[in-house]
Amino acid sequence: MAEPALSRRARIAWGIVLALGLAAAAAWTAWAYYLGGAAGLGAEQPIAFSHRVHATDKGIDCRFCHPFPDRAPYAGMPPVQTCMFCHRSVIATHSEIRKLWGYFERNEPIPWVREFEVPDHVYFSHRMHLRKELDCPDCHGDISMEDRVKAAEPLEMGFCLDCHKSRGGPRDCVVCHR
Ligand code: HEC
Ligand code: HEC
Ligand code: HEC
Ligand code: HEC
Ligand code: HEC
Repeated sequence: MAEPALSRRARIAWGIVLALGLAAAAAWTAWAYYLGGAAGLGAEQPIAFSHRVHATDKGIDCRFCHPFPDRAPYAGMPPVQTCMFCHRSVIATHSEIRKLWGYFERNEPIPWVREFEVPDHVYFSHRMHLRKELDCPDCHGDISMEDRVKAAEPLEMGFCLDCHKSRGGPRDCVVCHR
């Protein structure tokens, strides 16, 4: 059966419609991919550090890099020297590790962007919380699987109070606002 012949103009018109449709679909896919990817990632960091690679693939303990959560109010961020302990030799010429060398040689702390931080008028201590058999994921989510740390929810008052209500933490204003 012969196909109905389209006029030259009709074919050109269809070609244009088809091309526009494909371009729109491609743009949509790229946008959805961008949004999907960005939504799951936290702030971009000065060095592309991945918890998934270090804590899960290489099995490094959280406390090797954040040594104080059970002893001090703060968990502590690792100084450059902690990274250099391995990266003096491990993939020492990798482009991200070259940046690490830069901070090390300039004797400059790495300006990590914080995702979990409470304002100055709020008192928070890791030590008191870890004594109650709470563990890191109760407040931070599964950091060990993250490539770029992201706070699942903002650290607003409700984040603290919801848990204090369900797990018997204090609710007096002055406990957190001294
Ligand atoms: C090899 C070192 C290393 C190990 C091991 C490690 N971390 Fe980290 N952690 C870092 C560095 C570097 C940062 C800052 C950059 C970033 O946010 O990814 C960080 C950031 C964080 C932050 C975000 C702090 C903020 O305010 O943004 C949390 C929470 C955290 N780590 C928890 C953990 C937990 C829980 C584990 C164990 C599952 C762990 N870390 C294992 C090096 C490490
Ligand atoms: C106990 C050893 C150890 C420590 C401490 C350590 N790393 Fe690593 N790191 C590794 C290993 C092992 C790899 C994987 C190397 C490979 O892929 O061959 C790695 C990979 C990396 C990579 C490569 C990119 C990637 O995600 O695959 C970067 C960047 C990096 N580390 C940054 C850091 C920074 C920043 C610190 C300090 C906060 C740090 N590392 C501390 C062992 C360590
Ligand atoms: C009860 C909730 C809670 C638990 C449990 C908890 N954290 Fe935190 N973490 C926080 C809060 C809130 C902050 C922000 C503190 C601030 O801004 O002073 C924080 C900040 C951090 C930081 C940023 C640096 C610092 O010291 O402020 C790191 C790293 C961290 N936590 C790691 C850990 C690790 C590792 C564990 C498990 C051993 C853990 N946290 C358990 C609530 C918690
Ligand atoms: C996952 C549960 C959980 C979350 C989230 C949580 N807390 Fe607590 N908090 C507790 C529990 C349980 C106690 C009681 C500890 C005890 O009595 O030993 C407590 C005790 C406290 C205390 C009194 C002990 C001390 O350290 O002086 C303060 C202050 C406090 N929390 C502040 C906060 C703040 C601020 C936040 C939010 C940024 C927060 N907590 C988030 C469970 C939580
Ligand atoms: C368990 C800890 C905790 C307790 C208890 C608590 N707060 Fe807060 N509060 C917070 C945190 C964390 C913030 C910071 C919220 C933010 O930055 O979004 C905050 C912020 C505030 C703010 C600043 C405005 C705002 O919403 O950011 C006010 C005002 C406030 N609290 C009043 C109170 C009063 C009044 C009480 C007692 C009825 C109380 N808080 C009890 C943790 C607590």
